[in-house]
Amino acid sequence: MIDRRTLFGATAATATFLSSLVKGRKAEAKTPANYTFKDVEKRGTRGRLERLPALDLESSQDFLTGFRNFVNRDMRQAAQKRLAVLMEERGLSADDDLPLEELLPMIENDHLIMGSVRGWVSNQQLTWKQVQDYFHANADEYMAEMESADHSGPGSLELDPDLVLPDYTKHEIHIQPGGYVGDPFAGYINYYGVNNFYGGSNYDDEVQAAIAERVQIPKDGKKVMRILDLGCATGRLTFAMKDRFPDAEVWGIDVGAPMVRFAHTRGVDLDKDVHFAQRLAEDTKFPDNHFDLVISYIMFHEVTSEAQDKIIAEAKRVLRPGGVFFPHGFPHWKTSTEEHGLSYVRHLAGSQV
Ligand SMILES: C[S@@+](CC[C@H](N)C(=O)[O-])C[C@H]1O[C@@H](n2cnc3c(N)ncnc32)[C@H](O)[C@@H]1O
Repeated sequence: MIDRRTLFGATAATATFLSSLVKGRKAEAKTPANYTFKDVEKRGTRGRLERLPALDLESSQDFLTGFRNFVNRDMRQAAQKRLAVLMEERGLSADDDLPLEELLPMIENDHLIMGSVRGWVSNQQLTWKQVQDYFHANADEYMAEMESADHSGPGSLELDPDLVLPDYTKHEIHIQPGGYVGDPFAGYINYYGVNNFYGGSNYDDEVQAAIAERVQIPKDGKKVMRILDLGCATGRLTFAMKDRFPDAEVWGIDVGAPMVRFAHTRGVDLDKDVHFAQRLAEDTKFPDNHFDLVISYIMFHEVTSEAQDKIIAEAKRVLRPGGVFFPHGFPHWKTSTEEHGLSYVRHLAGSQV
């Protein structure tokens, strides 16, 4: 079957041909071999998302996203109400914190609660698996895509094959097969799979664009010249920071080689002059007092508390006096994203370092 990259490339060639007829000149010859990453039709209103290459894959991912929204909202609410009833029947309050061995016998035969749990877990497993299967089945093409971007600009890519990976990073985090470090296509898998987590509302990196807008700038009024994004993953926030501070030198670092490799591939596609490196947030290798801003988005929940302390110390080391550390986490269940983000900042480091 013809894949969508070729198909949309062919559509672009047809459009070129038709417009050349209108203009009365000969169409430029453009064979599929000439098509680049840039020829692929984009999704999302700002055109940031590279569409999935196969329509059946995109359809099933869209189905899984819709189903996840249903599970997360309707089913979870119903399951929570049901759990409150079960707890009340046993003389417990809905806020009581029960050990697993007490909770499980209470819910394991309840179809509503277990359906909600199974729906959520299976949905996540299927999301990753479908995307992983596709990129593995087309490994040569996508490996070639990354290889051709590796030494292209704007921006740069640094990989460190000798980096010693901390044990806590060698997990299938969020059930992603191979995690961030164990699958050469982890960047592709994560980039597309995570769209499901966002419920279909982040195709244009809207979440990261909003966070980038909220990042505080140094109060001394000096121009922001250097920015570091810790745990940058596929570079969504890193690019958003470059958009906000186009003159700044922007770096994204991540422990996962496949993550920064994909981020850089995407940076080449988006024409962003952003630098990506496979480095640890605990040991960034940058000089003291180097950055005006150090940021991160949803990295801290994935590292051990010992590593958190080291990362905060490292962020302080590489920030210039008066620079800002802006680590952003998840919204707390009971507070808004904004409140949580700000309280997280206050909790970890204060708004100014
Ligand atoms: C949830 S993702 C971050 C998402 C990303 N910031 C965004 O804007 O979409 C967490 C990332 O942190 C990275 N990470 C975890 N521990 C790390 C460490 N010690 N040093 C660098 N990166 C780390 C993981 O590899 C993963 O890519």
